[in-house]
Amino acid sequence: MRRVPSTSHVRTRRFPTLLQGAAIGLALVAATAATARTPETTPLTDAAVRARADALLAQMTPEEKAGQLTQYFDFPVPAEAKRVADEVRAGRAGSLLFLSEPDQINQMQKIAVEQTRLKIPLLFGFDVIHGLRTIMPVPIAMAATWDPKLVEKGQAVAAAEARSVGIHWAFAPMVDIARDPRWGRIVEGAGEDAYLGSVMAAAQVRGFQGPNIGAANHIIAGPKHFAGYGAALGGRDYDEVDLSDNQLWNTYLKPFKAAVDAGAGNIMSAYMGLNGVPASGNHWLLTKVLRDTWGFKGFVVTDAGAAHDLATHGYARDNADAGVRALTAGVDMEMAPPFGESAYRTLPASLAAGKVTTAQLDGAVRTILETKIRMGLFEHPYADAGKSARILADPAHRETARIAAERSAVLLINDDKLLPFDRTRVKSLAVIGPLADAARDTVGPWVFAQDDKETVTVLAGIKAKAGRDIRVDYAPGVTMPARLFPSIFDAGVGKAAPRPDIDDATEIPRAVALARSADVAVLVLGEAQNMIGEFASRSSLDLPGRQQELLDAVIATGKPVVVLLMSARPIDMKGSKPTALMNIWYPGTQGGTAVANLLFGDAVPGGKLPFTWARDIGQIPLTYAHLTSHQPANAEKRYWNEPNSPLFPFGYGLSYSSFSFSNLKVARPSIAPGESVDVTVDMTNTGQRTADDVAQLYIHQRFGSSARPVRELKGFQRVTLKPGETRSIRFTLSPEELRYWTASSGTWVQDETTFDVWAGDSSAATLAATFDVKKP
Ligand code: NOJ
Repeated sequence: MRRVPSTSHVRTRRFPTLLQGAAIGLALVAATAATARTPETTPLTDAAVRARADALLAQMTPEEKAGQLTQYFDFPVPAEAKRVADEVRAGRAGSLLFLSEPDQINQMQKIAVEQTRLKIPLLFGFDVIHGLRTIMPVPIAMAATWDPKLVEKGQAVAAAEARSVGIHWAFAPMVDIARDPRWGRIVEGAGEDAYLGSVMAAAQVRGFQGPNIGAANHIIAGPKHFAGYGAALGGRDYDEVDLSDNQLWNTYLKPFKAAVDAGAGNIMSAYMGLNGVPASGNHWLLTKVLRDTWGFKGFVVTDAGAAHDLATHGYARDNADAGVRALTAGVDMEMAPPFGESAYRTLPASLAAGKVTTAQLDGAVRTILETKIRMGLFEHPYADAGKSARILADPAHRETARIAAERSAVLLINDDKLLPFDRTRVKSLAVIGPLADAARDTVGPWVFAQDDKETVTVLAGIKAKAGRDIRVDYAPGVTMPARLFPSIFDAGVGKAAPRPDIDDATEIPRAVALARSADVAVLVLGEAQNMIGEFASRSSLDLPGRQQELLDAVIATGKPVVVLLMSARPIDMKGSKPTALMNIWYPGTQGGTAVANLLFGDAVPGGKLPFTWARDIGQIPLTYAHLTSHQPANAEKRYWNEPNSPLFPFGYGLSYSSFSFSNLKVARPSIAPGESVDVTVDMTNTGQRTADDVAQLYIHQRFGSSARPVRELKGFQRVTLKPGETRSIRFTLSPEELRYWTASSGTWVQDETTFDVWAGDSSAATLAATFDVKKP
């Protein structure tokens, strides 16, 4: 175990004695020789890293140690830069967040490596959530690709761009399960499902980090927010969570475990707590589960201000107690405490008072130093601005963004095969909606270093694709309303663009007239980027402002209507039925190009919903993986006023082709506990176009130590097939997929039981088989 528990207080000297100094000198020389290889080419051995970190540790004062454990916000404004620079110079900061320009980063780094006593470089962190300059579709859209290789590639692009400017660490991926779309941060995760979420979590960690921590062009991944943050009551951001152990172990913790297994170098602790114990002071969570049980070897950072918050929660007595509790729980670094109120700044005094031990403090500092050593920061502390400019401009990155946007779109309705457009019939388009030409919204929330000028809006993409033969008219149709409470991202860092000044009363009739005079109306509706994300929860799933009125008025023209939804929530369109409906999420830098390719058939939609699309907000939370209870035959009638089923099921999405599934086979009728079993199914493209579908495997355990969900996803593969082509898809159900955590014994079990198995292209798949698990 990393932390050596000790009740005796060890007094630390401020400076080493002469003899110690000589010994440290020798150790440093040896450690430096052992680490002369650059970590970018050959990963350093654990022993070499440890020796170098320990040699440094031996020279550090408690104040310098506390400094290494403190991360400050550094917004690129002069007043902030000055006071942060002073903290760095004084050795009171080990890491900074929120710089993304090489010059600004190098300036701060220079202070650390030239003006501090021990010359320990700073670790620069940033919210690299779905790209830095090249913006990929938002994370939930990436999950909707059901394509982990692409997801990995997308984050590798983000990592290369980030590393080039001097960023070492992403506060991502967000792997929180979200089953309540009122919660704005649903956009940052992979949706409602533990299996899909785990696959996407691991893929993102691999993408960010590459083969090892310190790999060239890669950065540290920081899965967040550990743990359970997505279950905020009422979907209210930052609010209380009340999770059963069953939900916690079988659903919410799983993507974190997958991220740790994939080698994540960092974990961020959440704002809220479990069972009344705030996550950032939760020893059970951060030490017992994360380190002792899962073997996590990286460092834990709090969410911004969350150590200090332990007192806000009414958990710690004061700021000093908050520092003690966070460190004791297993937090290594305190993120962004309010200036001058850092909880970790009080650690030297707490050490002197015997409230924490040197071993505890050193344990935390060691994780930070080891990370800096592995990242090669002592050898290469600075960013190369020239090289960075080339990397940020790489056309291959835009290409990845375009492919990702095409593969993330989910086609939900396509009546009369309206899509793709038939160029012989469609000669004019009315492109309508407040999000049709909104570059800032097109890239979505959580981007700060993008170039809005290079973002291709849907209107721009359609215009470019339509060429000369198709007339394209445009009207925003309505204004996007302002939030009742402004977002923290609206000003400054969020770079929110001003909205056009529109009078809805005259604009709606103008848009309707355009629709009337066109062959097809394309409406781009949804939520502005600042209506989703952090601090952006919502008590409604309706289209904001007068968009619903606009939609109904356009549908009433009788013209074919395509709705492109730009959002990450299951928007409630109040029963209005456009001819075609495609969820395009926030599709990123190349969004407009991708959407145009999809509309005109140069790309075929193949994305699938990563969440259950409820009919309306009254059904929330609604997940396909629910438990059976009394009178399951009446499950559809749980409300007297509307069916309980969703509008669109989890895993659903149409194509321009069609697919069928047959020949579902479980390799053996019975397996022993601990054994794996193969399941095969034939997937056929029964349509006219080469296209993708996602073969999905679901299971249900009929009886056992706990009642289990009616269905659970346990495998998927996105496959491209030519017209008429059939492919046999093989899944392996291993003990990992068949076991679960049960409250009956408080452990993981694999029961002797019978499993139902379904395969198809959504959670409503009907092709079924069974197998038993029994001791031979
Ligand atoms: C608070 C958010 O909860 C977290 O996700 C983010 O990484 C930090 N702020 C830093 O911006």
